[in-house]
Amino acid sequence: MKNIKAIIFDAYGTLFDVNSAAEKCKNKIGNKWESFANYWRTTQLEYTWLRSLMGRHKDFWQVTEDSLEKSMKVFEIDFIMKSELLNLYKKLSTFIEVPNVLSSLKKKSFKLAILSNGTPQLLNELVDSNNLENIFDDIFSIEEVGIFKPSSKVYDIPVKKYKIKKKEIAFLSANTWDVSGGGNYGYTSIWVNRNKNVFDNLDCKPNKEIKNLNQLLEMFK
Ligand code: LAC
Repeated sequence: MKNIKAIIFDAYGTLFDVNSAAEKCKNKIGNKWESFANYWRTTQLEYTWLRSLMGRHKDFWQVTEDSLEKSMKVFEIDFIMKSELLNLYKKLSTFIEVPNVLSSLKKKSFKLAILSNGTPQLLNELVDSNNLENIFDDIFSIEEVGIFKPSSKVYDIPVKKYKIKKKEIAFLSANTWDVSGGGNYGYTSIWVNRNKNVFDNLDCKPNKEIKNLNQLLEMFK
């Protein structure tokens, strides 16, 4: 982890718990809430990749709503819950260690930023609702380039802004495909493997693997 100048985080699934919206409705949804949440997330991501490949961009909020509608049909969840789930998605909780780790890193000399598929408005709302508004130097959204991750146009955004080398960026994601995307692009990639998952069989392996963000404090003393 030598020569790192910026630490850049993926948002959804890495800093913010994407399952927390459905979890908050588990009394209404019942036991299937977790399978439903996973299906919604997978469908949402598939739609980002398909839209990028088809050249038919819609922003992440529209994709989130489209994928929610399909998932609710598949899991036979009453559409009356749609606006409740969407409102909760705007205020996802962070994983437990995130606020403390970020405020400790803030005291050091790295640039701290988010690089996410989310729209600027969604990302700002998430950051504000979790009281993280004074942490980040930048919140980079793919809306700047109009295509989703893992397009290299996305990973280019912070390199151009900070005028630093790709390897000088430590890029953290809990999403294996995003770690592959960032690593393939040339970032120093760190996989946040919270649930003992198996990494992808693509060309790239992460430079480091951690269980949660607490390990960053040891890594970036
Ligand atoms: C993001 C999603 C992909 O924040 O996790 O970019």
